[in-house]
Amino acid sequence: MSNQANLTIGDQAFPLNVIVGTEDEHALDISTLRKDSKFITYDDGYGNTGSCESSITFIDGDKGILRYRGFDISELAEKSNFLESCLLLFNGELPTTSAIENFKLQVSSMSALPADVESMIESMPSTTHPMGILGAALQALGGSFPKLSTNTRPADVESFDEAAALILGAIPSIAAKHYRSSRNESIPSRRGNHNYCENFLHMMFGNEDGQSIDPAVSNALDLIFLLHADHEQNCSTSTCRMIASGGANAFASLAGAVSALWGPLHGGANMAVIKMLNEIHSAGDDGSQFIQSAKEGKSRLMGFGHRVYRNYDPRAKILKSACDQALTALGVESPILDIARNLERSALQDEYFIQRKLYPNVDFYSGIILQAMGFPTDMFTVLFAIGRAPGWLSHWKEIATHGKRIHRPRQIYQGSIHRPYIELGNR
Ligand code: ACO
Repeated sequence: MSNQANLTIGDQAFPLNVIVGTEDEHALDISTLRKDSKFITYDDGYGNTGSCESSITFIDGDKGILRYRGFDISELAEKSNFLESCLLLFNGELPTTSAIENFKLQVSSMSALPADVESMIESMPSTTHPMGILGAALQALGGSFPKLSTNTRPADVESFDEAAALILGAIPSIAAKHYRSSRNESIPSRRGNHNYCENFLHMMFGNEDGQSIDPAVSNALDLIFLLHADHEQNCSTSTCRMIASGGANAFASLAGAVSALWGPLHGGANMAVIKMLNEIHSAGDDGSQFIQSAKEGKSRLMGFGHRVYRNYDPRAKILKSACDQALTALGVESPILDIARNLERSALQDEYFIQRKLYPNVDFYSGIILQAMGFPTDMFTVLFAIGRAPGWLSHWKEIATHGKRIHRPRQIYQGSIHRPYIELGNR
């Protein structure tokens, strides 16, 4: 294929460079179009807009492919773990044994929250959602480490490794601190032999007796984090990149990403799935009435559909079998799991969903596992954020090291044209 395309507007031709990605994706480079032609492009919701060139994650939504740095998600799910995948995302290559060990130690040594951050969490209104707490606490964490959050480059890039380890260590502690404080409890003392997920489960649900944590449960949590670790230019990651493009530090950029993730059409969907399943259950429906109302546009089948995947979300496939295993390990019988299976089976055979290429996404099964583990529903999106933090950090690093200019889209103005001010008495 030619590396040039021609756009004709009226009788004028405008040559556009064609950018070809390593997976043979093609894009028209319109960066000089406005200068050359006075036209901009219009793409509501950015569904057809490449906002950057990135080497972190590849998705082929039609084929249901997801790869971190070239490695298939199914292979990483089977052979890797969350912290190893974090290093892969940050640095582009699978880490050595010593790099992994050093990183684990660094993350673990930075998991205790500064006293100021703990007090801030305790002082927030008791009605604040855990995602609101997380965003605010990340800003406070940056404030507690001014040398890691200078808002200057290259200083913030040089301290990236330390900031990333601190953020990964601190986010589970922020989540657990808020959960425990809201129940007037304190976090039990840390056990030296716990890995990342075991430590989080211990902070959340453990006590000073330090009862052992079922490896099937901590492994399932590790898998959930790994599957969420990055997903290229989604709403929260694009928000993170946007903030980073203005020169903001990683703590501030991630705080913005947390706010973006919170919404029910994005990371909040895992909470919405459980709410939907519980409502179907209490209405005595096996899912068929709900499917009908979704088809009539009266409700939305949460956990279904995706802007990019027009095929089975590969993460949902992995989580579906992990869900069965985790529930067996926990000895939990979940009536809502049966409803979820019914909904999936019916939707996949229904013309409405087939035509629109709507398949289960990552949120469809994750909430059921998290609920069985004992996490309250309003914390599900925080768990998504723990998993997604390495993705946001990797994108922050990519912008901070390779970003060329501040992100600033244009618009088509459709408001009032120029008019004179009307004095108060004349309105
Ligand atoms: N249930 C019923 N119908 C749906 C659903 C759904 N979950 N999702 C999309 N549709 C329908 C729409 O009504 C529309 O129908 P129409 O063509 O007759 O008008 C068609 O499918 C296309 O839908 P859009 O909303 O245009 O798709 P878009 O790409 O903008 O939205 C989204 C994707 C937001 C994920 C959507 O599918 C949705 O709301 N799903 C439920 C929420 C959810 O699970 N979000 C998590 C996404 S994954 C993540 O963020 C981690």
